[in-house]
Amino acid sequence: MNDAPNCHRSLDREPTAANAPVPIWLIVFTLVLGFLGAVYFDHHSGGGDAKVYAPYNSATELAAVQPKDAGAALAAHGKSVYENVCGICHGSDGLGKPGQAPPLAASEWVAKDLTTLARVPLAGLNGPIQVAGKEWNLAMAPMGAGLSDADLAAVLTYLRTAWGNQSSAVSEADMKAARAAISGNAPSAAALAKMTPGERGHEVFKKYGCFQCHGPEGKGGVTNPNAKTAELVPSLIYVADGYNQAELIAFISRGERVIPRLNPNGPEPPHFMPKWNGIVTTNELSDLAEFLFSLKPKGEKLDF
Ligand code: HEC
Ligand code: HEC
Repeated sequence: MNDAPNCHRSLDREPTAANAPVPIWLIVFTLVLGFLGAVYFDHHSGGGDAKVYAPYNSATELAAVQPKDAGAALAAHGKSVYENVCGICHGSDGLGKPGQAPPLAASEWVAKDLTTLARVPLAGLNGPIQVAGKEWNLAMAPMGAGLSDADLAAVLTYLRTAWGNQSSAVSEADMKAARAAISGNAPSAAALAKMTPGERGHEVFKKYGCFQCHGPEGKGGVTNPNAKTAELVPSLIYVADGYNQAELIAFISRGERVIPRLNPNGPEPPHFMPKWNGIVTTNELSDLAEFLFSLKPKGEKLDF
């Protein structure tokens, strides 16, 4: 058995490093590797932006998947609340409608301090008021009284940043503080719990400003020029004769956008019955129905 044949050679002389040239294939291989590296870098580095990593290839692509900044996300949610609750009167373009609702675009009201602005959706507004140099003398019910602080903050932020408006965003915390300042005399949850359904319904009637159109205690409406109902928003004291509870709740929920005209060729009556679905809660609606039924004068019968 011949073991370690190389040992013989090592005995002959000291090993030396040969002075061989670098093989050409190695140079080519290195250059190709460098080139491929550069190509890869070009495609995956986001143009050298230190914030861009795989799997994203560019700053634009990365930006598309980032959460939008808080204000933009708030305004996007606010737009949907606006379309659902406010747009029917003020218009998707924020320009308002003649004889129906003033504009919100370029309105000084939208730029006012938050307590003043938030009072409009929370407590309603009765003219006369000035908006962008014109006088309006209508009534807005507290269409936002049933919205959460988060929804109100979003919708007011939308108002303040859409259509060229440039006021500061409203946070949920700002809105919470403004609501506390505005609805100081609303009954507490504990007080509400001690009330009868009819008494709670009376609070609901006040909370959503039904009285602004139907009069205090629903006893007589405000004038509604060219409305078939005696040019008045109707009183509500006899609804017990016209509706059962389910019908009444259904009517209040869907509202009545088009009010029959006294003179068919005359102008559209300015006040219509808002759609309360999604604003007044289900429990509030049944309490409200109890309250409205209780308005009928005792022992009285209608003669037709
Ligand atoms: C049923 C119709 C109606 C709806 C719905 C409505 N508004 Fe109004 N709004 C009005 C009317 C009418 C006025 C003017 C009241 C007056 O003349 O005093 C008004 C006035 C305003 C004003 C002050 C004046 C201005 O144009 O800047 C603001 C702010 C406002 N509304 C915000 C809202 C917001 C926010 C919502 C949704 C939460 C909303 N409104 C929903 C009818 C409506
Ligand atoms: C912006 C004005 C306005 C507000 C605010 C308003 N209503 Fe009305 N409501 C009307 C008008 C106008 C009519 C008449 C509809 C018609 O002629 O078809 C009406 C009709 C009604 C009727 C039907 C009356 C009948 O005799 O058939 C009920 C019930 C009613 N409203 C309840 C309410 C309640 C409850 C609220 C508060 C949550 C409320 N309304 C808030 C304008 C308003």
